[in-house]
Amino acid sequence: MKVHAIILAAGQGTRMKSALPKVLHRVGGRPMLGRVLAAAHEAGVDVPHLVLGHSAEQVRAWLADDAAGVPVFASGGIRTVTQPQQLGTAHAVLQALPEIPDNALVVVLYGDVPLVSAATIRQLIAAAQNGLALVTLELEAPQGYGRILRDAGGRVTGIVEEKEANSEQRAIREVNTGLLAGRAKRLKRWLSKVRNDNRKQEYYLTDVVALAASDAVEIAVVAADSAGEVEGVNDPVQLAHVERALQKQQAVQLQREGLYLADPARFDLRGDLKIGRDVHIDIGCVLEGAIELGDGVVIGPYCLLRNVRLGKGTRVEAHSVLDGATAGIDCRIGPFARLRPGAQLADGVWIGNFVEIKQSNLGEGSKAAHLAYIGDASIGERVNIGAGVITCNYDGVDKYQTTIGADAFIGSDSQLIAPVAIGAGAYVAAGSTIVEDVPQNALAIARARGQKIVPDWRSRKKDHKKDRQ
Ligand code: UD1
Ligand code: CA
Repeated sequence: MKVHAIILAAGQGTRMKSALPKVLHRVGGRPMLGRVLAAAHEAGVDVPHLVLGHSAEQVRAWLADDAAGVPVFASGGIRTVTQPQQLGTAHAVLQALPEIPDNALVVVLYGDVPLVSAATIRQLIAAAQNGLALVTLELEAPQGYGRILRDAGGRVTGIVEEKEANSEQRAIREVNTGLLAGRAKRLKRWLSKVRNDNRKQEYYLTDVVALAASDAVEIAVVAADSAGEVEGVNDPVQLAHVERALQKQQAVQLQREGLYLADPARFDLRGDLKIGRDVHIDIGCVLEGAIELGDGVVIGPYCLLRNVRLGKGTRVEAHSVLDGATAGIDCRIGPFARLRPGAQLADGVWIGNFVEIKQSNLGEGSKAAHLAYIGDASIGERVNIGAGVITCNYDGVDKYQTTIGADAFIGSDSQLIAPVAIGAGAYVAAGSTIVEDVPQNALAIARARGQKIVPDWRSRKKDHKKDRQ
């Protein structure tokens, strides 16, 4: 039996006060809708249907974007249907139902409830096999939610929306999360009977529960893992709240895997982190994309790491920014280092403060300890790059390569005008502007020759000043 998901995402999202459709706002670096689709995919949903409203075109454009990381479902694409007017959750589900075969199982999810887990969706699917299943939650403060009504025997008999509830019903603390599953055929029948003669004049999806109960269909209940899992986002406050819930959950999971976080409340992961043993991360770090940190890696405070792989024992000191970079074992990076995409450091490389590296590889044991720009360069082993060295890789039109052989020594404040090659073991004298290749083991000096000495300069300056007075 195929499982279809109907994901409601037609709401206007007015309270977000944003040009971006609500469901494309990010949680943990990923659009909320992307999270819901990923959970559905992981739970074994075969065909997802998205119910879109006002910003349907922007959402469709996102779905079509290869870079969006939308999961690929076995059944093929994600189906979308537009609900031109938001007449209620039942009306929204009805937009997608005609597309779904009678014998399919249908799970209703929400584009703005981003932390729903695959495990909960799986349990919901399993619980719906014989009838209808709901995900509910016990809350100290149930305000705003639909309440679960049960008979004396504890059987679910219906859901009453807050606006329709009497004071006795409002005291019920078991609430409807909105997540629900059942057979398509039955849902079609029940939904055709739902009316909008209520306070909000909306077609309430929750009315199907009483219809199922009166048909004597079994109504199963699955408990949500936590309140955070089923929390919806309507405004920036809730968005940040859900973000924190996710960050906390991720941090605890990683700590259990053996990650040492100086403070889990000051750690943000917007992607996937793989760790070895004894990895330490100090406060204020942001990790994005795919990150791999080998055994014993230490990340100092306030670093940004995006799509980075670091080998065993490598240390990144405070305030470094690493993006699309890899480093081997026992490297030392920072403080205040910047590694840009394509920076590849072999083992034992040392990159110090205010060094920027782009699309370059540095061989084992090479060093650039202070103030340098290395772009489009291929650098051998044990090379020393002095303070202030610049690879001039760009002539305003094209980029050019710099090659530096093993054991070369590039003196401070030198400019290497690419394309240029420095041979193995060569020396470049400090302050040189190198425009031609330097042979192996040679010394290149390219600066204004001769230092002029003007004796007794100080007193001559003073005399000059007196003359002016
Ligand atoms: C709904 C439930 C309530 C539950 C709560 C959990 C109903 C009638 N009530 O209430 O029992 O406790 O969720 O958060 O279902 N949507 C559409 N099209 C529509 C209407 C809504 O796509 O015509 C989407 C909205 O974008 C939103 C979701 O459905 O993502 C929920 O709709 P909303 O109106 O916020 O329902 P609640 O009043 O919160
Ligand atoms: Ca809501």
